[in-house]
Amino acid sequence: MNQRLNLQLIENGYVHIPDGIDKRLIKIAQENINDSLKKILISKKKDVSEKYDINFYNCLKILPQYELQVLLTQNIVGNNIVYQILRSKKILDFLISSIGPDLEYESNCELNIITIEEKRDYFVKKYHQEFWSGVGIASMMLWIPIYFEPNMASVEFIKKSHTWGHIPHKNREPIKLPNKYETEIIKAKEGSAVLTGSLTLHKSGRHKHSKPRIALPVVVRNFYYPKTGNEDLMEFRRLNWSYYSKLRKILGNPHLSPFRTDLKRTINLEDKD
Ligand SMILES: [Fe+2]
Repeated sequence: MNQRLNLQLIENGYVHIPDGIDKRLIKIAQENINDSLKKILISKKKDVSEKYDINFYNCLKILPQYELQVLLTQNIVGNNIVYQILRSKKILDFLISSIGPDLEYESNCELNIITIEEKRDYFVKKYHQEFWSGVGIASMMLWIPIYFEPNMASVEFIKKSHTWGHIPHKNREPIKLPNKYETEIIKAKEGSAVLTGSLTLHKSGRHKHSKPRIALPVVVRNFYYPKTGNEDLMEFRRLNWSYYSKLRKILGNPHLSPFRTDLKRTINLEDKD
């Protein structure tokens, strides 16, 4: 299966993995987000609902959306929920097969929330490349729907646009595009994920649902690959280690200082000599 997904990724510049993430983890992320919303409302002595959408709209009366997105994301990152989501077997196996076993993810990522009132501006983006936001060509973006019901806004890609290079742009939109291109709106659902390169053009779909759509875009990269964008300004946490990286950690330093970790073992080895 990974071979087929890898072919799609290199051919189109993105790939949809329909059941990549353990749905139990998506539920945990949803509960964490709703709990954070409830805590904000309780701290301001406001009424709390069991419904995330009601809590979210009430929180918007207290905090601007960009602050709310940061706060909610800090909690799901801090509670290791993003880490567990990314370690879902299918996703992790696919990441390892496509970009290798030495992986890290962006810990200062930010939930993307779209509401029905939102016009195409800051939160609802026009066609763009992640490259414009400092994600280098060796890094990937994983887009994960968290609160997502049928008919909510998905994400739309331009097939093969990753082969066009750096698209000229101004004010967060392309200045020029080829006359002909093919697009795809992803049939996303809770439990699915989309992996895309940083040059693949994509945009948010129209959101006509009364509840907000909450998705998590997170940069994932092989930490041995070059940082060709602004990755040195981002924050990353380790996700997975190869044998080589594990051995490097055991050895402790690049000079291979002998017998530094275990005194007993050192003595035994010396005795044998
Ligand atoms: Fe994007």
